Amino acid sequence: MNKVEIFENERATGYNQFVETWIPNYHYFLDRLPKLLRETKQKDLLVVGCGTGNEIERFVHAPEHWKITGIDPSPEMIKQARQKLQTYENVTLIEGLLANLDPERTYGAATLLLVLHFLDDNGNKLNLLKGIAERLVSGAPFVILDITGDKNKIRQNLKILKLLLPDGLDEEQISNRLNRIETELFTVSEERLSELCTAAGFEPPLRFFQSSIYMGWLTKKK
Ligand SMILES: C[S@@+](CC[C@H](N)C(=O)[O-])C[C@H]1O[C@@H](n2cnc3c(N)ncnc32)[C@H](O)[C@@H]1O
Repeated sequence: MNKVEIFENERATGYNQFVETWIPNYHYFLDRLPKLLRETKQKDLLVVGCGTGNEIERFVHAPEHWKITGIDPSPEMIKQARQKLQTYENVTLIEGLLANLDPERTYGAATLLLVLHFLDDNGNKLNLLKGIAERLVSGAPFVILDITGDKNKIRQNLKILKLLLPDGLDEEQISNRLNRIETELFTVSEERLSELCTAAGFEPPLRFFQSSIYMGWLTKKK
């Protein structure tokens, strides 16, 4: 089973405000996802760690008709996703992990946004990536957004991130958060992320987006 990072209480209710504060260009990234994936043949999308449904919202409003399955182990996050998205008949939301999906079902594309850095690199990252690859058809695009970089790059980029934060934030909160990113999250270098994707059954990923510590990657199921 995969390690799980549960989001609950204020972490769940304040989630959307939190990402807007801490991830410069988060909306730009999300808004472009349907464009990025518009040439996908089978418009059947698996959104892993969908949280409150931010990325799914973009796909329901896209000109192409996507069938979307969002999965997340945090009850409070998926509850918010349900409140926002339950009226769309092309969206299925599942509280749980990849293992809870029908093993026979395959998808034409997948996303994994802001999840991988919570999992250690002693097997948990690779297991999750393999689990996604197993559920995709050959050639299916896969998008990752993650905090990426070796320790030194992360340290340098956190200084940039601090400059880009909105004005008026509490200094203690800023330093706690920056410290947590540096010391508690399981970030890996760009090379290691590429190795993990390849070992899981994907092509070497291409970095197409970066906003301080956050990198966006595009790859394909082999
Ligand atoms: C930072 S949120 C990202 C939510 C959403 N993808 C977004 O960009 O707004 C991380 C999410 O990953 C989920 N998560 C934690 N461990 C997971 C795992 N092993 N597999 C899938 N999702 C997981 C959490 O429940 C949480 O909702």
